[in-house]
Amino acid sequence: MPSRESDRVFQSYGRVCNNPQFFVDFYDRFMNSSPTIKARFADVDMKQQRHLLRNGIMQLVLHARGMADTKLRDLAKSHSRTGHDIDPAWYDLWLDALIATIRYHDPEYSDEVAHAWRTAIMPGIEIIRSGY
Ligand code: HEM
Repeated sequence: MPSRESDRVFQSYGRVCNNPQFFVDFYDRFMNSSPTIKARFADVDMKQQRHLLRNGIMQLVLHARGMADTKLRDLAKSHSRTGHDIDPAWYDLWLDALIATIRYHDPEYSDEVAHAWRTAIMPGIEIIRSGY
């Protein structure tokens, strides 16, 4: 049974994810959080990347609603030291950039919405991070 928190997150994502500018703003913010992170995306097709992230966040949201973690384990593998080699410390910056972008784009944003996001998607993020 999806929790009330995950309902909040599902609805919040519904309000922001159809606006392509949401993903543009997220990556601008995330890349500006560190020159090392910015460098990681230097040769990446960002149009395609934004599209992939739309689905990646959906996987985190669906995991919070009880879906199996198969897709997140694939992301854990691709982001591991033998894959994209993503430093585990960077996920905190990723989550902060996400919440700040939601704050800007979700007209119904509140502290409760932000808290629901952090609580709901943290377990999924930990699956990806812990695969390092
Ligand atoms: C929980 C948070 C994250 C999610 C949901 C996520 C999602 C994704 C997805 C769906 C892809 C494309 C598929 C794949 O390569 O497996 C991807 C690729 C990638 N991600 Fe992440 N990611 C996250 C965190 C991060 C962080 C913290 C970084 C740090 C820089 C990062 C850097 C990259 C890079 C460099 C690629 C490959 C781009 C390319 O070469 O085409 N990701 N991510």
